[in-house]
Amino acid sequence: MHFRLILLEETVSTSSYIKDNITVLESFTVVQALHQTAGRGRMGRIWQDEKNNSLLASFLFKNDFPEFDDLRKNCTAVFSLAACSAVSRLGIKTGIKWPNDIYADGKKLGGILAETGFCAAAERYLIAGIGLNINQEFASFKNLPAAASLRMFTGKIHDLADLRKSLFKETAKFIKMKGREIHNAYIQAAGLFPGTGLAFKNEPETRMHLEKVNDDYSLTARKSGGEKIIITDSESILFS
Ligand code: BTN
Repeated sequence: MHFRLILLEETVSTSSYIKDNITVLESFTVVQALHQTAGRGRMGRIWQDEKNNSLLASFLFKNDFPEFDDLRKNCTAVFSLAACSAVSRLGIKTGIKWPNDIYADGKKLGGILAETGFCAAAERYLIAGIGLNINQEFASFKNLPAAASLRMFTGKIHDLADLRKSLFKETAKFIKMKGREIHNAYIQAAGLFPGTGLAFKNEPETRMHLEKVNDDYSLTARKSGGEKIIITDSESILFS
């Protein structure tokens, strides 16, 4: 599995760059930038970076290879697992916070933004954007106490190219895995085991427990009164 790299000094957003050039870019193109002027996060949020200190990359896939459908369905899991593996190789114990945040010791290191659409009549695309905080110092997050960089854990400055290579290797490994295997690996890494306690932030007294992680990575939970709930919005819930 070979990724073609486009390395940019600066762009608005690597995922937007791909969208703007979707018809000419080939499947397995990766756009990496050293800085984004308007990086996008999940739920319409802004993703801010510090020039040269973050891994900012977007992967383009079109439905021209056998694993495409599995990858589209499991994109969030594939990329969060790949990112966790690449970071774990540096000796940092990582986990996934549902649905696709990369965490270490209760701090967010990065996240995944998956976007799909059609680039021609029957040609689907998938863009997986990944942002990871790498070489920021403690001071960079003084107003963001829930965020951290790899450097804050290791005390070292990390090479962005080495991390990218490691991410390519791990991504290729997870893309080759069967959908069920990915789903199971995700459940382990996210600690989403049946019975896990949950509550809605706006009604914390109503306890629920997790029944399962669905195929689309939404959660099926059950209230103590027996009512079944499908949860898709990570912002509305607390885990216990
Ligand atoms: C999140 O909200 O946690 C997901 C953040 C994803 C950010 C990455 S950085 C590279 C790519 N380009 C973007 O504009 N966003 C993604």
